[in-house]
Amino acid sequence: MSDDNKDTGSHEPREDGGTPERVIGTPSPAAEKSLLPGGAAPAEGAAAEELDEASAKRAERVVAVFFLIAFAASVAFIAYYIGWSGRDGGMHGIHRTRESNLWLGGMMTLAFLAMAVGVTIWVRRLMTSKPIIQERHAPRATEETRASFAADFMEGAADSGITKRPLLRRTLLLAAAPLGLAPLVLLRDLGPKPGTRLRHTFWGDAVKKAQSQGKKGVRLVVDGTDRPLRVSDFSSPGGMITVLPEGIEHDLPEEKVLTQVAKAVTILINVPADQFKPAKGRENWHVGGIVAYSKICTHVGCPAALYEQTTHHILCPCHQSTFDATDAAKVVFGPAARPLPQLPLAVEDGYLVATSDYHEPIGPSFWERG
Ligand code: FES
Repeated sequence: MSDDNKDTGSHEPREDGGTPERVIGTPSPAAEKSLLPGGAAPAEGAAAEELDEASAKRAERVVAVFFLIAFAASVAFIAYYIGWSGRDGGMHGIHRTRESNLWLGGMMTLAFLAMAVGVTIWVRRLMTSKPIIQERHAPRATEETRASFAADFMEGAADSGITKRPLLRRTLLLAAAPLGLAPLVLLRDLGPKPGTRLRHTFWGDAVKKAQSQGKKGVRLVVDGTDRPLRVSDFSSPGGMITVLPEGIEHDLPEEKVLTQVAKAVTILINVPADQFKPAKGRENWHVGGIVAYSKICTHVGCPAALYEQTTHHILCPCHQSTFDATDAAKVVFGPAARPLPQLPLAVEDGYLVATSDYHEPIGPSFWERG
């Protein structure tokens, strides 16, 4: 390290002909205006120093303003957290999560930003800066080292016999060629597209089979017990249950059951009829407020398995996507980009039945590309 070269150019030759030096950082404008002992003195003497004093006072006031802004934003953050956000369930409920995130995040950002700007002005305008100088070594090797490397390389090549033994050379190149191509082959995994395969679940097959037997649709069975569900079994508003199409366990080869169950898994919710808003064209898809949605979150496919009875929100625990069960499972919060697909329901002989497959692909939105 040296401090005898005060020039701030990036690569400065030294007067004594030694190794070039590199100055790191930009010089502070305070260097020429410093009020501290050791700072470079202005040429105009006392008058200039008075000017610096006035400028420093101004900078001091500006810094203080930024610190006051940071203080106010921090106090507002705490006040909002404790007080205002407590209303109507506040940030501790689901209703105002978006709003509280905006205000809390905004105020914290403002506090940190104001603090950072204040400190930066303080350092730049009111403090002296010392150049830090790093010795740089010439990157080029000496002629002697280069010649020695070339000689070693040629000696190694001659010793390997790669020029004298064409069989080895050619088979080596032959072996290396497919290795170079291997990454290109992996590109094949980007396709083919799934086509329409993901647009169908076992609900569609089961409904077709039931309708071919003269029925209205396939019965819903409770996941785990396989018990067909009567409307009267599920008449209390606020309940949620996981259902599957009847026959999924028996009508499929064993190796396909798990995949098909994973795609067909559905949540059944009894939403209070007076709060239910059927989507346009889906007025007949519910049974007195009993409505069925895919359980696979449209974000990245976790099971949306939590239901909040008081708000009628379906929650996905993975990234907190929230869907409104009273309003066609529209997204009210979180990263999911589209509602949970809805399954059309009807009643047959007192049992709940599905009358068709889902009308859109279940699961993450990117599956729609198929
Ligand atoms: S998978 Fe449901 S929110 Fe991410």
